[in-house]
Amino acid sequence: MIVAQLSDIHADGSDGPLDRLDKVLRWLKPMQPDAIIVSGDLAELEHRRSYGEVRDRLEATQAPFYVVPGNVDDHHEMRMTFGSRFDWPDEDHLNCTARVGSELRVIGLDVTVAGAHHGDAVPVLEWLAVELNTGGAPVLIFQHQHPFLCGIGGKDRNICRGGEELAQVINEARDPVVALTCGHVHRPMFTRFAGRPATMCPSVARANRLRLDGKDPEISDPPGLLLHHFQDDRLVSHVVMVD
Ligand SMILES: [Fe+2]
Repeated sequence: MIVAQLSDIHADGSDGPLDRLDKVLRWLKPMQPDAIIVSGDLAELEHRRSYGEVRDRLEATQAPFYVVPGNVDDHHEMRMTFGSRFDWPDEDHLNCTARVGSELRVIGLDVTVAGAHHGDAVPVLEWLAVELNTGGAPVLIFQHQHPFLCGIGGKDRNICRGGEELAQVINEARDPVVALTCGHVHRPMFTRFAGRPATMCPSVARANRLRLDGKDPEISDPPGLLLHHFQDDRLVSHVVMVD
């Protein structure tokens, strides 16, 4: 079973971000993923039009897809474009949950904070605790901001706060959480969170340079995606850069 993850499309009414999205989706097409998850920052300008353009492209894949907002998204416009798909209530976080085949569930966690670039998991933990105690299939959690420190200069200011509380809910859950994955820093990353694998998806939009320990490569990366392959209760995440 293949769950493809896209992140940080940053559609803005111009052709550039959509061309990059088309390139990534062209690569993905023959893989026929069982589901696509989009971990936030779908649009940063011209939101209504941009969501329509992103939605049309995702629908054309014919794969079921699920989205959560990021810090540059417009909640109202996202709800207008995608709300009927995900059964989002009128006044609440834009969380989603879905079964992918019989073996896996995906849970999208809206950790965004209105008007801020950082996230906060605490307001959605009560909802998550219920969703993680269903006696159901193993779960892949996706969200926008990273709940772990990534070490890239300046990027940990805008982390997902409430990481300790989030880890506690995951660790106390009845349903097994196989991994947590996010976006937001525009770079692929692999680490651990709550004792589990944690990944960050490369961006569709322009990547951030990998600034570590004051060093800076000065060269940016192409757009990319993650493919989460789940088989025999084992998750392997593949990173793909599409040039
Ligand atoms: Fe972001």
